[in-house]
Amino acid sequence: MDTVYLNGQYLPADQAKVSVFDRGFLFGDSVYEVIPFYQGIGFRLAEHLQRLEHSLRALRIEMNQDWTPILTRLVELNGGGNVSVYLQVTRGSAGKRVHVIEPDIVPTVFACCQSIRDIYQEGIDKVVGIKVIVTADLRWHRCDIKSTCLLPNILVLQQAKESGAQEAILQRDGALTEGASCNFFIVEQGVIYTPPIGTEILSGTTRALILELADQHGIPRQEAEIDYQRLIHADEVWISSSTRAIVPVLQVDDYVVGDGQKGPLWQRMFEIFTRYQHQLMTGE
Ligand code: PDD
Repeated sequence: MDTVYLNGQYLPADQAKVSVFDRGFLFGDSVYEVIPFYQGIGFRLAEHLQRLEHSLRALRIEMNQDWTPILTRLVELNGGGNVSVYLQVTRGSAGKRVHVIEPDIVPTVFACCQSIRDIYQEGIDKVVGIKVIVTADLRWHRCDIKSTCLLPNILVLQQAKESGAQEAILQRDGALTEGASCNFFIVEQGVIYTPPIGTEILSGTTRALILELADQHGIPRQEAEIDYQRLIHADEVWISSSTRAIVPVLQVDDYVVGDGQKGPLWQRMFEIFTRYQHQLMTGE
């Protein structure tokens, strides 16, 4: 995973250099995407790129870029296997530290690959349920923008780790929003619930796919506000993200979820996802 992309060039990672005055570095003035590729094929690539456009528009960073060939080439140069592509666009460098945005500043584009497991190929038995903690959502009110200002997310993930958990679900004004690096779902009496899209959560591509596939398979689902009591009493809890797909949550703080096992609706949805990914890869 040695070759990275930086501003039009493919380079060995140790030769890729960014200015110390880059606004991404100084102010977190930048956005990103994490996109899985399986055997060189992008998974929900169009949806990721649409969200990137949304983030760039929100920051008023103007770019007219065809991302697909750039990312496809990068994946090829890194062996074309199962990788997640990290793509970051910063507002660029004005050659000095100045808060106000200078007019003609040129964005910095950086992308790299990291190898990932093909969870679908490995099979359902390999999926390990996780524990989450619930903690305060200290982020700003534009979580729909996939910004690199991730300090609150990083601090709560550390808190989760120190509590023996793998994720943190965030709570704002009594409502649960999302995880530090994922969306979440609960199941109550056969119905899937997840918080609605808005400025308080990231519109997850995996979240959208779960809802889409639930609709296609006639599984009832609703977008609704979810509080702590509903979370701990749910029959099933899941988290979702591009690199982890759908993962069952077996424990929330000190509460065991359902019977403490991976739930039946999670299994069904995981199988539906596996078929979807197989079709995407093989065209069958
Ligand atoms: N995170 N919410 C947050 C805060 C996230 O950071 C992520 C993804 C998601 C899920 O979005 P998607 O299903 O499109 O991956 C929701 C990525 C994987 C990351 O930061 O590494």
